[in-house]
Amino acid sequence: MGGGRVIPEAGILASLPVVVVVVDDDDRVTYANVAAESFFDLSSSALIGTPLRSQIPPDSPVFALITQARSGGASVSEDGVAIEAPRVGERVATVTAAPIVDEGSLIALAIHERSIARKIDHQLVHRNAARSVTAMAAILAHEVKNPLSGIRGAAQLLEQSATAEDRELTRLITEETDRICALVDRMEVFSDPRPLARQPVNIHQVLEHVRRLAQSGFARHLRFVEAYDPSLPPVLGSRDQLIQVFLNLVKNAAEACPSQGGEIVLSTAYQHGIRLAVPGSETLISLPLVVSIQDNGEGIPEELRPNLFDPFVTTKINGTGLGLALVAKIVGDHAGVIEFDSQPRRTVFRVRLPIHAEPKAAIGPMPR
Ligand SMILES: Nc1ncnc2c1ncn2[C@@H]1O[C@H](COP(=O)(O)OP(=O)(O)O)[C@@H](O)[C@H]1O
Ligand SMILES: [Mg+2]
Repeated sequence: MGGGRVIPEAGILASLPVVVVVVDDDDRVTYANVAAESFFDLSSSALIGTPLRSQIPPDSPVFALITQARSGGASVSEDGVAIEAPRVGERVATVTAAPIVDEGSLIALAIHERSIARKIDHQLVHRNAARSVTAMAAILAHEVKNPLSGIRGAAQLLEQSATAEDRELTRLITEETDRICALVDRMEVFSDPRPLARQPVNIHQVLEHVRRLAQSGFARHLRFVEAYDPSLPPVLGSRDQLIQVFLNLVKNAAEACPSQGGEIVLSTAYQHGIRLAVPGSETLISLPLVVSIQDNGEGIPEELRPNLFDPFVTTKINGTGLGLALVAKIVGDHAGVIEFDSQPRRTVFRVRLPIHAEPKAAIGPMPR
């Protein structure tokens, strides 16, 4: 016998972030761990005895896995299972169903939500999107803007000798070239080749500034909730650009909020232990600063999600679709990443940033 301590199994199951549920041969819940309680947003006593079908829609692949495990007598897993239910919202998880040895038809179900690391991995793709915007913006500025001013000048020359009827057309040309010029101007921020002027920035001052701007204008009718971690160290970056990032995110949040009871939650946190492998670098980067912007709007339309950070993706009549593309570019320039989680009444954009110095040498609390 080894000298290992006996740890109560319930304690182990309670401490793991994996959702564990046991169902009987009627697919009724007979056990639910702590992670399951928060996943289903119900206490384990409320879950036990209820059919799993009342939490997860009956046509979910989860039930096929349970049936397979029961009839095959062996554990089965599936990756990327979408679990969608009114209470749970929309999640993607790896699901394992395993018969419990010597317990007849009891099946243990483990639901492992797509990890933060994988979510971010997915978001890193957006950095490449931002890079292609940068290249495109440079092309637009050189190859489009110059000829446009030529076209505009020619139209104005023609206008002088044109008949009244033709003048309408030359004006159309001038107006449309102006419109394209304005678009190219808006794109120009993407191609700014100057390196970022970095200085320590207090992110709370940035958020305060953004909230004040928002509340005196486009978000006047909304409630703001602030949940800041006051011990957050500074970010090394550009204050103006960071203001732009959070202004764009808060503007989108405000536009998504319902007309009655709209609420935006701004929060910051210091999260240890999130390290990522980034393309082009061998070391894992640590992004402990998390700034979240949450709204209670309808959520991000499904079809937009894969390309949300691409330029010109918009559902708004007067939208440019450049807001999030710019956000992705600036966050990338700050060596950070952005991710989102969206379900009806709860959409969160999270910006993760590196800190100014190594954690050990942290500057300590910043004045607000
Ligand atoms: N908080 C949000 N809730 C719901 N949808 C959002 C949110 N933020 C962004 N979106 C969607 O992403 C699209 C792109 O946003 P953005 O790049 O800022 O461009 P724009 O705001 O000009 O449309 C929006 O049109 C909207 O459909
Ligand atoms: Mg926008």
